[in-house]
Amino acid sequence: MKVYISRNIPTEAINLLKEQGLSVTVNENSTLLSKNELIDACQGVDLLLNVAHADLDAAFLEACPSLKGIALASVGYDHIDLTAASKHNIAVSNTPDVLSEATADTAFLLMLAVSRKAFHRANQVRLGQWKDFEFMQDLGIELYGKTLGIYGLGRIGIALARKAQAAYNMNIIYHNRSRNLEAEKLLQARYVSFDDLLTQSDVISAHSFLSPETTYRFNADAFKRMKSSAIFINTARGKIHQEADLTAALQNGEIWGAGLDVTDPEPMLANNPLLDLPNVCVLPHIGSATIETRTQMALLAASNLIAVKNGVPMPQILNPEIYKG
Ligand code: DGY
Repeated sequence: MKVYISRNIPTEAINLLKEQGLSVTVNENSTLLSKNELIDACQGVDLLLNVAHADLDAAFLEACPSLKGIALASVGYDHIDLTAASKHNIAVSNTPDVLSEATADTAFLLMLAVSRKAFHRANQVRLGQWKDFEFMQDLGIELYGKTLGIYGLGRIGIALARKAQAAYNMNIIYHNRSRNLEAEKLLQARYVSFDDLLTQSDVISAHSFLSPETTYRFNADAFKRMKSSAIFINTARGKIHQEADLTAALQNGEIWGAGLDVTDPEPMLANNPLLDLPNVCVLPHIGSATIETRTQMALLAASNLIAVKNGVPMPQILNPEIYKG
């Protein structure tokens, strides 16, 4: 069977596929393939290990009739049409769990960096603007004992809550579609309505999947309900917040700061007004970008493709209905 890997991944995972007798081609280009280039590359290919967020929509799946399995090297799967994949009998998997700690670390990093205006202050040093010891300039705010509100308390949110409790004794509240009783027990987390999440949190961190329900959930109305001292963090998907509304809320002092690892669009343009604000930290979607986690993600994606080759269900299957027929 032939495997195509859409971007370079750790050698361990490539070797794992080769040891299984699979014929592996890796796109070694330094740039992302366009959709048409990816379609061309997938002709006659049985298995795709897809890195990054190319839109694997119904037209793409239709145009690649030889595909039997797609392993996404991501936990998010908003960029693939699962219904179309099932229609074409293509098994699709993602990489949950293995990236929870690294992504929660990124949210924690942003929370702390925003609270101390760290990117802005570090930039001042780089620009030669560190003049003398200012007692009252650009003061930060402390996190100890504050309330962390988690929007979408799953594995990543739980990992962040654990870190925030251990480091800063933060109170945890959360809003989900349904209650997470295990997390409530583990973290003494309190389930609240979305409005209470907005009005009670000192920091709100978004960890939900992107869906019609979560798209632009953090908009002008939501930012107006938040405390003027609150920090908004998003390491999930850029469309969960409305960027123009977030910018206005920060410029008008409706909220205190924001930390983003995801933007809309990606990449964010260098002239984006958010980048001029002292209380904003933006990272280039590095949530899971550690050697350890990226290796685990690639190995997990490879093992899901090996399952297809062996004729057994993918362990991290996203469209299990294909096994029912
Ligand atoms: C994920 O795993 O979904 C991250 O956003 C990286 O793609």
